Amino acid sequence: MSRNPLPEGAQDIDPATVRFDDVSMRYGRAPETLRDLSFSLEPGSFHFVTGASGAGKSSLLKLIYLAAKPSKGLVHLFGQDVSAVPLRDQPFLRRRIGVVFQEFRLLEHMSAFDNVALPLRIEGRKPDSYRQDVAELLAWVGLRHRMHAMPATLAGGEKQRLAIARAVVNRPDILLADEPTGNVDHEMALRILRLFVELNRLGTTILIATHDQDLVARSGMPVLHLDGGQLTRLGSEP
Ligand SMILES: Nc1ncnc2c1ncn2[C@@H]1O[C@H](COP(=O)(O)OP(=O)(O)OP(=O)(O)O)[C@@H](O)[C@H]1O
Ligand SMILES: [Mg+2]
Repeated sequence: MSRNPLPEGAQDIDPATVRFDDVSMRYGRAPETLRDLSFSLEPGSFHFVTGASGAGKSSLLKLIYLAAKPSKGLVHLFGQDVSAVPLRDQPFLRRRIGVVFQEFRLLEHMSAFDNVALPLRIEGRKPDSYRQDVAELLAWVGLRHRMHAMPATLAGGEKQRLAIARAVVNRPDILLADEPTGNVDHEMALRILRLFVELNRLGTTILIATHDQDLVARSGMPVLHLDGGQLTRLGSEP
């Protein structure tokens, strides 16, 4: 059953988790980085975003996690036109989106455990209420034994999995991951893919930006391909 059942007579509400209508985006006065993108991600779907370096993959993700605004067109999240959501309400929208950043953005002065617990502390939860959940999540990503380690002492694949744990700890509706296998070997990349597939099975909508064609091919999931800022291909890789 849907988490947010529609009220009667509300069948016209857009059920997509993400919908772009003719969206363009530019940095300052530079030429448009993204041009005329239209697509939607249905709840519970799993997509990749591919494209050469500079094609605009990270920029597309920024539009979804509200770190950038379109210069043209509309971005809808969970059926809401983002441009119509007052600034004070945007954090509530943002909380429904988990992000694994290309450069991790772990807090170096905090242990692995505290990095993962941080989003819950920010929500005002007390340590007693989340200690076990955080420990279980760290075990799920294979970091039980590294729980008290500082990020600087973790290997690339461990940092990657820590960033994933932090992104999903408050059970976001959508998980965005930017090049999540960029720093790990093939075996670790497959392990990380399995984590995403499992999360997706639990109902999380997934969007992963990647260069890793092997990962895309193995997953068999559909692809949004960016070329020069335009969406040139939709559907599964051959
Ligand atoms: N903060 C910024 N200010 C100005 N230009 C930017 C900024 N971030 C990205 N760009 C430019 O926007 C374009 C798309 O960059 P983006 O980072 O989205 O590409 P990408 O597909 O994620 O590349 P990569 O595979 O290397 O991560 C590039 O030309 C880049 O130089
Ligand atoms: Mg990028």
